[in-house]
Amino acid sequence: MTTAFTDRTALSTAAYVDERPLETRRAIYDYRRPRLDLVGEVVHRLRDIPAGVVADVGCGSGAYTKALRAARADLDVLAVDLSSGMVGVAGQPGFVADAMTLPLADDSCSAVLALHMLYHVPDPAAAVAEYGRVLRADGSCLIIGNGPGDKVEFNEVWSRATREVTGRDEVGIFGPHILHFGGMEKLAGEVFPTVERIEYFGRTVVPDPGPVIAFIDSTRHLNSAPAFDAVRDRAAEIVTDIVAREGAFTFSNHLGMIRAMPC
Ligand SMILES: C[S@@+](CC[C@H](N)C(=O)[O-])C[C@H]1O[C@@H](n2cnc3c(N)ncnc32)[C@H](O)[C@@H]1O
Repeated sequence: MTTAFTDRTALSTAAYVDERPLETRRAIYDYRRPRLDLVGEVVHRLRDIPAGVVADVGCGSGAYTKALRAARADLDVLAVDLSSGMVGVAGQPGFVADAMTLPLADDSCSAVLALHMLYHVPDPAAAVAEYGRVLRADGSCLIIGNGPGDKVEFNEVWSRATREVTGRDEVGIFGPHILHFGGMEKLAGEVFPTVERIEYFGRTVVPDPGPVIAFIDSTRHLNSAPAFDAVRDRAAEIVTDIVAREGAFTFSNHLGMIRAMPC
């Protein structure tokens, strides 16, 4: 089922037409406890990959692409994304492509990165099969996704606001059908003989409603709910009340990083 979250035209021309909504969402993690340098973690986890080509598929604004380029001069890190705007921000070398049909030769990559992106792909199994096809026998595929407990407090606020404004039940700010890292791990296991997982837990404590409301607003083009503006306004009131009462809006973080290898 295609939703706003997996509609490739909408993703490339609206939700990710430029880097601003993504950067707004990334900024909220400045309030995460404990602090997590996830970009540094990814670079660290890839320290043993062989020199060669790395495809950062769904590179977005290139936070990981650029860090890996800076850390490893022996890698050609390709910025690959559905959105030409994002490829432009992540910088060359790079190109526009769909994860499900990568224009890369078999066995050509030292690593493939699929970081916070598989949940957007209409057929994630096809994308993981592509990652397996392009990966060298001594390469690694790194996947990051969220767990089902991630941002449940956002989902509660969004569901309550939707119910109050539209009378409809809505499950979660991004809709009910998100692929979590458990599902990504299962798909990786169908392609790769070796699959390892690390989980990261935390809480993000935001003492001001502003970044939370900006986060919610940034989901406009990822959200299939009707009456987005009215629901967003009601959600903003709920968040403002919570911050006034509790001193902060606190939400849960749960991530999984999966490393999958052909050997
Ligand atoms: C949440 S962002 C993640 C960006 C980056 N990997 C990061 O973690 O900062 C998801 C990115 O995946 C891209 N994307 C979504 N579906 C895709 C697909 N089928 N093929 C390639 N890229 C896709 C989007 O355009 C967007 O830039």
